[in-house]
Amino acid sequence: MEKFVINGGKPLKGEVTISGAKNAAVAIVAATILCDEPCVLENVPDISDITICMKILSSMGAVVKLVNKNTYFIDTRGIKDPKVPYDLARTMRASTYFLGTLLGRFHNAYVAMPGGCDLGDRPIDQHLKAFASLGAQHELQSGEVHVHANELIGSQIYFDMNTVGGTINAIMAACKAKGLSIIENAAKEPHIVDLANFLNSMGADIRGAGTDVIKIRGVNYLKGITYGIIPDQIEAGTYMVAAAATKGDVIIKNVIPKHLESITAKLRKVGVTVIENDESVEVRVDGPLLKTSLKTMPHPGFPTDMQPQFSTMLTLAEGTSIITDDIFDNRFKYVSELRRMGADISVEGTVAVIQGTGSLQGSPVVATDLRAGAALIIAGLAANGVTEVENIHYIERGYESIDKKLKGLGADIKRVVVPDVDHMRMSS
Ligand code: EPZ
Repeated sequence: MEKFVINGGKPLKGEVTISGAKNAAVAIVAATILCDEPCVLENVPDISDITICMKILSSMGAVVKLVNKNTYFIDTRGIKDPKVPYDLARTMRASTYFLGTLLGRFHNAYVAMPGGCDLGDRPIDQHLKAFASLGAQHELQSGEVHVHANELIGSQIYFDMNTVGGTINAIMAACKAKGLSIIENAAKEPHIVDLANFLNSMGADIRGAGTDVIKIRGVNYLKGITYGIIPDQIEAGTYMVAAAATKGDVIIKNVIPKHLESITAKLRKVGVTVIENDESVEVRVDGPLLKTSLKTMPHPGFPTDMQPQFSTMLTLAEGTSIITDDIFDNRFKYVSELRRMGADISVEGTVAVIQGTGSLQGSPVVATDLRAGAALIIAGLAANGVTEVENIHYIERGYESIDKKLKGLGADIKRVVVPDVDHMRMSS
């Protein structure tokens, strides 16, 4: 196990380059199963969720070659058995995407019930509802979902709530179905648009991605292509907030400013200067951070994946801020760790009340999930003294080389091996 040791209080300064979007990449890697020829994916983030996705593909019989750190050659024609290895599938939420893609190609799929960040209950009823609309049945046996259909017929798919994963799975299951499918109440995140663009570049017929109605006409054949993944809006937002929390001055490169609009608007509201260029944003703080109220919303609203990081920054603002995040049942697990650093936050259900204290004190803390871990790093960068962040494996699921990128901005952050206490006890 490893931890980050951060000596805080230094403003971040300089330039950082954003990697490919995790939540686009995991969907697009799964979607390669639908492709009838080999394809090449560029700007793939070097993160552990992608490593697991590639392991799943190769263990099922695909050819997966790393061309360079962020480029893969993938040929999935060798996959014959639509069954994802249980021990790999159960480790992450994105494994649900193999249901949609395997069903789309084989009309059959076996995938373990997903794991992933513990944000409360994360059912997949809407995914299964979408598959049923296309004519598929499902059973749950020993923790594995089996979805199957004699054939997939295009139809109306209506989601009861906004679901990113459900929308992604519906697109993949429908894009080779017979006839027209219409997805209503679709999620509009940039990673959904990126998946649709990837599939359309291969010859799919998907219109309306990025709006709440997506029309898909099934096709028989998808040709191989080379495709570049979009930059990660949440990684970019995380560095924007880190720059603000440390009162720094940072240029964040390789971004799509339009994807960051809700984050930019909120940062400006709390007194942060954000300058938007074509493919970069500059973030700097010239005065005190101000309080605000925030409610997370599906895109284009303020993303739930930015809530822990933004809330952490607000502990340094003047006044009382109110944060509502009801996208998930419980996305405030990190608050108890922030309290160790002197934060004054009370949580009632899906609402947090933050009394800005102006400063944080370094402390040993433990990451509870991916974005909570990023928030604790931001806290450590801003705090006086030394912060140790454990369970950094959560963070490395979604942030490429975060310690290296932060060092490049002047942060004093070290990666340290945590001795395995059990092992030491046994050997003594
Ligand atoms: C995706 O999760 C992302 N994960 C999450 O990012 C992100 O927080 C979330 O979308 C919302 O933007 C990936 O893309 C791999 P949902 P997903 O389906 O698809 C409920 C990160 O930090 N729901 O939009 O699981 C669900 O419980 C991760 O990068 C159902 O009830 O999110 C949740 O409360 C964390 N039934 C809400 O909807 C369903 O069938 C939104 O979930 C599906 C979802």
